[in-house]
Amino acid sequence: MKSPPKTFHVKSFGCQMNVYDGDRMAEIMAEQGLTATDDANAADLVVLNTCHIREKATEKVYSDIGRIRKEARSKHGTDPVIAVAGCVAQAEGAEIVRRAKVDVVVGPQAYHNLPDLVARAARGESALDTDMPVDLKFGHLPPRRRVSPSAFLTVQEGCDKFCTYCVVPYTRGAEVSRGWVQVVDEAKALVDAGAKEITLLGQNVNAWEDDGRGLHDLIAALADIAGLHRIRYTTSHPNDMAQGLIEAHRDIAKLMPFLHLPVQSGSDRILKAMNRSHTRDSYLRLLDRVRAVRPDIALSGDFIVGFPGETEADFADTLSLVDAVGHAQAFSFKYSPRPGTPAAGMADQVASEVMDERLQRLQAALNRDQAAFNAASVGRRCTILLERMGKLPGQFIGKSPWLQSVHVVGKAAIGDLVDVTIVAAGPNSVTGVMIEQGEGADEAFQRAKLDVAA
Ligand code: 5AD
Ligand code: SF4
Repeated sequence: MKSPPKTFHVKSFGCQMNVYDGDRMAEIMAEQGLTATDDANAADLVVLNTCHIREKATEKVYSDIGRIRKEARSKHGTDPVIAVAGCVAQAEGAEIVRRAKVDVVVGPQAYHNLPDLVARAARGESALDTDMPVDLKFGHLPPRRRVSPSAFLTVQEGCDKFCTYCVVPYTRGAEVSRGWVQVVDEAKALVDAGAKEITLLGQNVNAWEDDGRGLHDLIAALADIAGLHRIRYTTSHPNDMAQGLIEAHRDIAKLMPFLHLPVQSGSDRILKAMNRSHTRDSYLRLLDRVRAVRPDIALSGDFIVGFPGETEADFADTLSLVDAVGHAQAFSFKYSPRPGTPAAGMADQVASEVMDERLQRLQAALNRDQAAFNAASVGRRCTILLERMGKLPGQFIGKSPWLQSVHVVGKAAIGDLVDVTIVAAGPNSVTGVMIEQGEGADEAFQRAKLDVAA
């Protein structure tokens, strides 16, 4: 038996949806009267919101649990309530309870029950909930009250695509869309709570639908919310990229010119073995259609190297696809066999050293393209949303419409939208100068250029 917790700490790993879920769990516990603390070792309740997408995730959870317990005991003489949430909880809940004796296990579709589970654990009862109810958790969550200028909003969860390497269809369940009214209401609440930008989230966000309406209809409705300045969405699947959504990039000013569209491989043979149900060519033609309506769109993607059976020729196809696209940014991963997925049992698993070497070459190409994209934006004028303070005095870090991090110095506040000229570019960020009216503007521009040169 443990006494009911008074303080809590939520630690999220993995994707943006986990960040959203982590925030919602924090809101639930705060509504119960618990106080949030930044120090995981000092909290009475620690929620580990886990990710299962790639290797070692499970081992990391066990070592985290061990470390938190040890430090809490030695530094504070306490034994915190430990709750494991997220996709590892969903996939391996019973095993985690058995092996690590954690107090609570809660899956991604059940975390609205967290207070009840914590209370049960405090009474010494078993507290494991990995149900996937048809009625989604969202209706049971507290209202949004205080959020950052750029906020996440989950509109769709789960996946029916069953790519052969991926655990998501098993951990997050089937594709489900939240209803129109619920999403619009939450977006309004986010704006009232301080959001200027909303990123709509879903494992297949562009598969969102409600009563015949698609994601582009939803985006158009959200664009009517006064006080909401920018809209983004992620992650999309190439096969769900409706013409209406493509055209939204031309027609809706608040929809930012950025598209994260994972392709995974440039080889048709590998795409087939991955069960991606698109080809290299159909992917490239799709990008042509997007660029035709929005020429400045920044493209992002996900890549896997070393999928079972991937030859040097297949990998060369991936490199040539990268050359053809010219990404503004991208994520790339070594293939990791996930228990229970078809690919894990395939012949011809690629040696780890080969994957390392391919990953290095791929990342060199992607870094080159990212640097080129940043360099090409020098001289552009744009509006940026200031999200946090930088390291230098008076420095802010904001985001450009193309999702670049922009460093800028000036009189402003977090949450402001300011007009800048981009004056310099690095591999991972760019530098902007606020466009000041009248005298002094030119001087500020020159000063910033000198700062960058130094
Ligand atoms: N191994 C490596 N990368 C993976 N991803 C998903 N499953 C795996 C896996 N088993 C990557 C894909 C996906 C991103 C979220 O994670 O690129 O788009
Ligand atoms: Fe996983 Fe494929 Fe679904 Fe993406 S589309 S979540 S990679 S199964």
